[in-house]
This record gives sequence, C-alpha cells and structure tokens, in this order.
Amino acid sequence: VELGERSYQVEIGAGNISAAAAHVNNKNKNARVAIVTDEVVESIYGEKMVNAFEERNITAGTVVIPVGEESKNVETLAMLWDSFAELGIDRKSVVVALGGGVVGDVTGFAAGTYLRGVDYLQVPTTILAQVDSSVGGKVAINLHAGKNLAGLFYQPRSVVIDVLTLKTLPEREVRAGLAEVVKYGVIWDESFMGYLEDNAAKILAIDPEVISHVVMRSVQIKAEVVGSDETEQGLRRILNYGHTLGHSLENLAGYGVYLHGEAVAWGMAVATRISAEMGMLKYSDADRVLELLKKLSNVPKPADIDADELIAGTRKDKKAQAGKVNYVLAESVGRVVVRDDVDEGLVKRVVEEHIERG
Ligand code: NAD
Ligand code: GLY
Repeated sequence: VELGERSYQVEIGAGNISAAAAHVNNKNKNARVAIVTDEVVESIYGEKMVNAFEERNITAGTVVIPVGEESKNVETLAMLWDSFAELGIDRKSVVVALGGGVVGDVTGFAAGTYLRGVDYLQVPTTILAQVDSSVGGKVAINLHAGKNLAGLFYQPRSVVIDVLTLKTLPEREVRAGLAEVVKYGVIWDESFMGYLEDNAAKILAIDPEVISHVVMRSVQIKAEVVGSDETEQGLRRILNYGHTLGHSLENLAGYGVYLHGEAVAWGMAVATRISAEMGMLKYSDADRVLELLKKLSNVPKPADIDADELIAGTRKDKKAQAGKVNYVLAESVGRVVVRDDVDEGLVKRVVEEHIERG
C-alpha cells in the first residue's frame, strides 16, 4: 500500500500465520507485544500466535475481547488501553490485531490512540477482514448514535494474511465476506469478475490457490484505491458500493440480524438495479452482478423492513453531505461513479422490490 512514509506491505500466504512475528523488527526487539483477539479466534489460533513470538524471544501477552459487533464500543476501547498499560506496552511495542473486522477496527483504534499511537499489525482471519477492513487504515468503534462514528485513519505497520485460517470460518461468514469480493469486480475489474464466475465452487470450498488469488487481487484493488485517496476525499468513495442502503438496513434491522456483508450484498443488489433503471447500466450486466452475488454470497430478503424508514436512514449516513445522499452506481461491470442526484421515488420502488425478493 503506497502511502509515502506510511507505506506498508500486505503479505499473503497459505499457512504463514506465524510469520506475523517476523514483522516485529529490531526497533521492537526488547519491547512487549500485545495480541488482541476475540474468544473464538483465541481458541483456534491464540496459542500459535503467542508461540510464534516466543520462538523469537519476544514477550507477548494476549487480550481477549468478547465475540461480535457489540465489542466495537467505548468500553472495549477503555479495557484495551488499560490492558496495554498492564502489559507494559510502550512506544517501541507492537499491538497485533488477530481476528475479523471487529477485532481489527477496535484494536487499530486503541493502538492509534494509546500513547498517541503505537505500531500495530493486522492479522485478519475472516474474508471480510482479509479483503477489506485490514487494509486502508480505517479504524473505528460504534456509538449509540450509529456505526463507526468515532474513529481514525491509522495505517498498520503491515498486514499478514494466512488464507488457511479461512478453513475454520463458518460458511455464513465466508459468504458474507465474499460480497465485498464481488464489489471489487463491479467497481474496478471486469476480468476479476469473470475469474469469480469461473471459480465460484473452488472459492466457496476455500481452495488455497484460488482463494489466495481472490484475496490478492482484492487487496491489490483496495491498495490502489487507498494509495490514491487515503482519507476518502474522492476515489475511495467507490469502495462504498452497496453501503449506502446496506448500512441503513444493518442499522434498521438491529445489529446482529444481518451480517455486515449480507447487508452490503443486499445494498449492492439494489444499487445495481437502480443503475440499470437509470439507464446507466445494461440490464444484462445488472443480471450478471445479481447472479454472482447470489452464487457467492447471501442476499437477504428483509421482509419486515419499511422502505421509507430505510431511506430515511440513508440521510443519517456519515457520507451524506448537506442532506444529499451519495450512491455509488455502476456504468458497466468494472466501472462505477458516485451520484448525489438519485431520485428518491426510484430508490423507494427498487427498495420495495428487493425487500420482497432479495
Ligand atoms: P467479526 O470480526 O465479527 O468476525 C466474524 C465471526 O467470525 C466472529 O464470530 C469471529 O469470532 C469469527 N472468526 C473470525 N475468524 C475466524 C476463523 N478464522 N475461524 C473461525 N471463526 C472466526 O466480523 P467481520 O465480518 O470480520 O468484520 C465485521 C466488522 O468489520 C464490522 O464491524 C464492520 O464495520 C467492519 N468493517 C471495517 C472496515 C474498515 O475499513 N475498517 C471495512 C469493512 C467492515
Ligand atoms: N471499507 C471501505 C473503505 O475502507 O474505505
């Protein structure tokens, strides 16, 4: 990820999780490491990670947070700050975020604010975290007023991805993460879309070679976008394809009803259809996107959701500016634009259709 003095590497491999310890360099040799993880990931990969550091004579303490979105809050943040103090974390120390996007987001925030910023490594273990949240430096917690409302842009020192960790990920989580993968095809790379279509079965089976390519290409695209617009002044907004309505759905349904990736899959289905209805995208291309989304991901049918309330929710999105709601819309598979002039009547009609049929 090319960001001048904040540039960093994303290492992608199969069976390389222990290599994270090698990313703690001489500057940190005598300093302590704090590994932050959740209960589930700790039980599968915690010991391996601690051993990887101890083999290099680096003292590593583990801090375990409860599983799930509820942990992305100010209480967890305070608990992490206190734990860093107890573990003797200093400015030469490194914090490791081992887990999914929840662990990555709250740990990155804690690392970015403790002692005004200590280095951290992202070691993502879900598809969503490997292809999206671990790269790009957005870290955040949720407030009662909404999701990700308090946060920072704070880039990791490096990202270490072991695709074999995906073998233990529940299928629902795999499919949710794959929505973000389809997103990269739609926003940036038509030939990647073709690769996803041709290899869907192997992707779902976490074939190491195929999933490595999928993660690598996704990370390359994200790195390219973030490298040219770190703080989302322009281009980076395209990464929000499907997120305007997806976030609103997630909010309205109540956290935990739909996984982030499921809500995004639904939002992408709607945004794709709106693009076609506005005459920007061929209907055959819209069908192609929907078909792949349904094959690789789960597109929910949010039957109990009220379209007006959902649309009202989009106005509260932190990306809405001066009351204008931004939608990322497709012009072709591989090319999108950001529009703030989408007719609400059209949005409502398409939302209502997709509440029924997913
Ligand atoms: P998550 O972190 O809650 O992980 C999902 C579940 O999978 C958890 O129960 C976890 O314990 C379990 N798990 C993780 N790795 C596992 C493994 N290898 N094997 C078995 N179980 C495993 O969810 P997520 O989907 O990774 O992340 C969602 C979060 O990411 C949301 O809070 C969202 O806002 C955030 N996000 C952030 C960004 C960003 O740019 N910072 C981008 C997208 C999403
Ligand atoms: N997940 C969107 C972004 O990183 O900008």
